[in-house]
Amino acid sequence: MQPLPQGAPATLTEAFGYITNLKTPSIEDMKVMVLVEAASKNLYEAIAEAVSDPQAKALLQANGREELAHAHRVAKAIGAITGTDYPVPSPEENPYLEAPLPTYTVNKAMLASLAAVEFAGDDLYGAWAEHCGNADAAALFRLNGREEIGHGERLQQASALLAA
Ligand SMILES: [Fe+2]
Ligand SMILES: [Fe+2]
Repeated sequence: MQPLPQGAPATLTEAFGYITNLKTPSIEDMKVMVLVEAASKNLYEAIAEAVSDPQAKALLQANGREELAHAHRVAKAIGAITGTDYPVPSPEENPYLEAPLPTYTVNKAMLASLAAVEFAGDDLYGAWAEHCGNADAAALFRLNGREEIGHGERLQQASALLAA
């Protein structure tokens, strides 16, 4: 198991709450984001599992694949700032996946509200880019932010495909 970064929230749910309000992250906070983004792939897989519409399922799986790519970009941003990349854990090694995933009721409304969370991710990464003091890291954060907008759009599409 990869150890939790210093001062990191203990659970995935707490980590989501912590990270979404953090405009000026420390390096330890960026490590938390790596773990959260990597775990988000598994969350999206679980959400995709819960919908029967094949098109909606594919949209959710696509978001999940990109969340893992986001984890790798944040890991590289840490490397750009500190000189050492932070390792992206496998699901088995991710401390935020040690406990069972939180269970969600997946429906039209849930996907629509998750879209709002994803859209906010662009602002969050934009703030990280602005405050990180490293051009390479900033570019990686901005790229993640733009893709979070795409995630919000996919969630809106998936939501529209589900019956009310
Ligand atoms: Fe992400
Ligand atoms: Fe996302």
